[in-house]
Amino acid sequence: MKLLITGGAGFIGSTLCRYLVQQVGCEVINLDKLTYAADLRSLAVLEGNPAYRFVQGDILDAQLVASILREFQPQGIINLAAETHVDRSIEGATSFIQTNILGTFNLLQQARAFWDGLSKDDKSEFRFLHVSTDEVFGSLGQTGYFEETSRYAPTSPYSASKASSDHLVQAWYHTFGLPTLISNCSNNYGPYQFPEKLIPLMIIKGMQDQPLPVYGDGQQIRDWLHVQDHVEALYRIFTKGRIGQSYLVGGHNEQSNLSIVRAICERLDHYRPEGSASKQALIQFVQDRPGHDRRYAVNASLIAHDLGWKPRLNFTEGLAATIDWYISNQDWWQPLIDKSYDGRRLGLITG
Ligand code: NAD
Ligand code: TYD
Repeated sequence: MKLLITGGAGFIGSTLCRYLVQQVGCEVINLDKLTYAADLRSLAVLEGNPAYRFVQGDILDAQLVASILREFQPQGIINLAAETHVDRSIEGATSFIQTNILGTFNLLQQARAFWDGLSKDDKSEFRFLHVSTDEVFGSLGQTGYFEETSRYAPTSPYSASKASSDHLVQAWYHTFGLPTLISNCSNNYGPYQFPEKLIPLMIIKGMQDQPLPVYGDGQQIRDWLHVQDHVEALYRIFTKGRIGQSYLVGGHNEQSNLSIVRAICERLDHYRPEGSASKQALIQFVQDRPGHDRRYAVNASLIAHDLGWKPRLNFTEGLAATIDWYISNQDWWQPLIDKSYDGRRLGLITG
């Protein structure tokens, strides 16, 4: 199977490219703009593999997307290209609107033109999977779960831009018959995540004995899923999902931010020199994120029952392995800290 992956040089996209090429045996073309969040070193194992090609470019570039589709003739597109950090969307939303909304719009336009020109058989095989987030549903109270039928209620510029893109995808399915699918996944963790997100940021700051900034009271809850489980869910949705359907994907694994930071400290303490203070002493409660969603939790029973997907990786083990990966791979993240992001607080509204 030949697939166009967009955003394949990011955290989830690179994991998906490695999985599709190395484990599934797909041919992949990866279209990525290479923003600050991308890193081709995450794809080093695929270099020279004839089943993998990289194109640097923007999903907003209509001619480029059209020519890739024409020349490569993929059986589908999996769209992961996006601006993804909530705090950056508070600092400035323009790139979120451009990539997440207009970029998805352009991909839909190009996909539709390509799909229209396919033979009847190829048309029925083609799929467009849009990778989205559970954040489009806004914040939950203390009980309940997001369902596929939950009302869209995004609260941040990031989640609003992802919600907009989901609506466009649904419109292209209903109006033009484009065979689309959507996944709405909960928070991911694992190796190769850019160190602006909670888990890698806390591991790296903890390793370097820097303060660990917990927003507000740290009691906000996320449903954490290992990135490997996510990419396996994406492949399952792409190959077995019902056209026009959205699928929620989650880890059945609700954790407060504070409990995650404490767990990271506990693991790092295993490696600390004898007699030195516990990393727990680095925890600092700082000003809350504006508009901070309190709780996300996913009911992933549709994908479990209809497509037979369930998370395989245990969180305690997955988190420990992720911490150990960051400890062993400083040569991967240190250049990112040096060149792109020095770990400073983002997303506070001043003035
Ligand atoms: P990421 O920020 O690590 O990577 C995004 C990638 O998209 C980067 O390689 C970047 O260069 C590329 N990109 C950005 N703008 C582009 C453009 N205009 N054209 C081409 N490429 C562009 O993101 P991620 O965490 O890997 O997330 C991937 C997708 O999964 C996103 O759509 C995100 O909304 C979704 N998602 C992420 C999570 C999570 O916890 N990380 C959870 C659910 C859903
Ligand atoms: P993040 O990794 O940015 O993902 P998202 O906002 O998409 O869920 O943040 C996860 C949670 O961690 C979120 O509730 C905000 C919180 N957080 C902190 O408390 N401190 C931090 O330094 C960061 C980056 C996040």
